[in-house]
Amino acid sequence: MHNGILLGASLMCADLLNLKEELNNLDKCGVDYVHFDVMDGHFVPNFGLNLDILKSIKKVTSLPINVHLMVEDPSAFIEDFAESGCNSISFHQESTVHVQRVIKLIKGFGIQVGLALNPATPLTVLEYVLPDLDFINIMTVNPGFSGQILIPSTLIKIKKLRQMLDEQELKIAIQVDGNVSFENIPKMIESGANMLVCGTSSLYKKGMKIEEAMQKIKSLIS
Ligand code: DX5
Ligand code: ZN
Repeated sequence: MHNGILLGASLMCADLLNLKEELNNLDKCGVDYVHFDVMDGHFVPNFGLNLDILKSIKKVTSLPINVHLMVEDPSAFIEDFAESGCNSISFHQESTVHVQRVIKLIKGFGIQVGLALNPATPLTVLEYVLPDLDFINIMTVNPGFSGQILIPSTLIKIKKLRQMLDEQELKIAIQVDGNVSFENIPKMIESGANMLVCGTSSLYKKGMKIEEAMQKIKSLIS
């Protein structure tokens, strides 16, 4: 935690040929958690990391792992991921018919649960599930690919969500995922985000060392 903000590294943006070293470096430079993107080629038109990779990295890192399921029917994946030792799982409201059932399923494994919302999904879908959540993943780009540009209306959405949480005195984290860049980080935090997923536009910025990038991120939030 840095100044009340949790700093996460989007592992799909790391050098996948050197994951062990990459994880060591993340640990050394003070990243709070690893964001682990799982895709099925249906809910999003891409493939990300998978269960075998998660099991392998668990052997070499003690950093908390935050799994982000960008899949159709997340309930089919939860048992396997939860049992492989991750610390939290988020799933998409848009791909889930019975949201409360999936929340309960995840909590049953004693891990934290987050609900992810695509940029076009309104905050009203949270009305009846808000108190059951540990965090909300506000997607600031459409999920599936790194290197995209932030959708500006998502900043307003973060602000509104912060208001909703404050009004209800709920201590639920607001995670932001997508184009969490050096330029956007201050705006995201000012809007009320307190859990960052840093990818190619900040922590893994081309031409920059991870330690250097992390220093810059820390200076932006202090
Ligand atoms: C999506 C992922 C990545 C990540 C990439 O769920 O977690 O898109 O945000 O970072 P950027 O957008 O900076 O390339
Ligand atoms: Zn993600």
